[in-house]
Amino acid sequence: MHLLVTAGPTREHLDPVRFLSNRSTGKMGFALAAAAAEAGHAVTLVAGPVALDTPPGTTRVDVVSARDMLAAVQDWLPAADVLIMSAAVADWRPRRCAGIKLKKASMPATLELEPNPDILKTVAPLKGERLFVGFAAETGDPAPEARRKLAAKGLDLIVANDVSQTDAGFAVDTNRVVLIAADGTSQALPLMSKLDVARAIMRWCEERISYSAGTSTRQETGRSSPGAFR
Ligand code: C5P
Repeated sequence: MHLLVTAGPTREHLDPVRFLSNRSTGKMGFALAAAAAEAGHAVTLVAGPVALDTPPGTTRVDVVSARDMLAAVQDWLPAADVLIMSAAVADWRPRRCAGIKLKKASMPATLELEPNPDILKTVAPLKGERLFVGFAAETGDPAPEARRKLAAKGLDLIVANDVSQTDAGFAVDTNRVVLIAADGTSQALPLMSKLDVARAIMRWCEERISYSAGTSTRQETGRSSPGAFR
């Protein structure tokens, strides 16, 4: 399989040194890329700004903003069998980005924002036979909101986690997730390392791909380089 994995936060600049972002460190997405590579799959890892080493055997594409990430996903999707969107994409960006550092005195007291594109929704028409996997980070019971996002974004699987817990979610090496599939099945995993969570997600993808390969005339994408899907 060829997996396209996004990881980390995005940064939405208001000038060259200031930006809006979030607490994502990219650990879950990098663990997914590492688990996929260790299982022998081809991996393209689209990474927002993070302080992590590139997992061996993966191709890394660095991006900054949500719009950069969308462009990279559109470039690489034709080559992919599976898209895993684990990035914490910033929902909003400043309406204007200054080319030079804004002087304190000239900064507005309020920021005008505009919405970023939803990457999963934007590429949904290009899904074809590919598997699309999303993440839902919620505070409190993540399942109801995750089910809503699974349907709204047309996903095959959503990985739901409660980010209000100190041992799961942002910036830690462990996670406690529930895998919720579009066919109605769900699997609550115990607290485990992000690498083991990633391996469980990989197994789900492998089983689903081999099942559909056996039951349909699935077209091979047969490509390993970016194509034009924009
Ligand atoms: O709507 P929410 O941000 O909670 O959805 C989370 C899922 O959607 C994640 O898989 C995330 O990577 C993806 N997402 C996206 N484009 C956005 C925001 C989130 O693809 N602009």
